[in-house]
Amino acid sequence: MKIMIIGGKGTIGKKVSDHFSKKHDVLIAGRQSGDISVDITDSLSIESMFKSTGHVDAVVCIAGEAKWAAFDSMTEEDFYIGLRSKLMGQVNLVRFGQKYLNAGGSFTLSTGILADHPVDLTTSAAMVNGAIHSFVKAVSLELKNGIRINVVSSGLVEDAVDKYEAYFPGHNPIPMKKVVNGYVKSVEGKSTGEIIRMYDNC
Ligand SMILES: NC(=O)c1ccc[n+]([C@@H]2O[C@H](COP(=O)([O-])OP(=O)(O)OC[C@H]3O[C@@H](n4cnc5c(N)ncnc54)[C@H](OP(=O)(O)O)[C@@H]3O)[C@@H](O)[C@H]2O)c1
Repeated sequence: MKIMIIGGKGTIGKKVSDHFSKKHDVLIAGRQSGDISVDITDSLSIESMFKSTGHVDAVVCIAGEAKWAAFDSMTEEDFYIGLRSKLMGQVNLVRFGQKYLNAGGSFTLSTGILADHPVDLTTSAAMVNGAIHSFVKAVSLELKNGIRINVVSSGLVEDAVDKYEAYFPGHNPIPMKKVVNGYVKSVEGKSTGEIIRMYDNC
């Protein structure tokens, strides 16, 4: 399979890319990292990425940001960071990418545990994660040519513990192998419209 991984050099992305590279032809995209340059907040950039790569069998997005801050300090513009990046960035990957996926291909998006179990300071991040879950369920009913779509929602991953542990009191970090398996299930399995939750007793 030819698999495009947006964010394939990130904390989660590099483990997922390393895994898929053993069996598949992997193309990595990012703003400053990878084989192809793309900024998912810019739909023209997404369109030109697909024009340059041509057809692929799977698109995996492990990128997207949202602002973390106290709700009473968040401006409208602060909310638009997550809406433009993690939410519409991933929606636009599907909008443009559907023309560039081979029949039977798949999209795999990324969200996170905040959709179901928010922690302090995450009104924006939790909100966009929940919106992506609803988007995936709805758009899976409409994609054509056997194209599937799923979303991997994992808890705090082991490789990010040093950075985020303080924000997730009492959460058990998710082993990277388990996280990678969420992406494998989506890309190599047959399901569609699925929210693949990789949580541990939260
Ligand atoms: N870390 C966790 O514990 C965890 C748990 C659950 C869910 N998640 C979610 O999973 C995703 C990846 O997390 P991570 O911890 O692996 O993040 P990370 O280490 O910051 O990596 C993010 C990757 O995405 C790329 N990227 C960021 N913004 C982009 C944009 N606008 N356009 C294109 N590429 C972009 C970055 O490359 P460039 O800088 O080159 O663009 C980088 O390769 C995030 O959405 C995060 O919320 C993370």
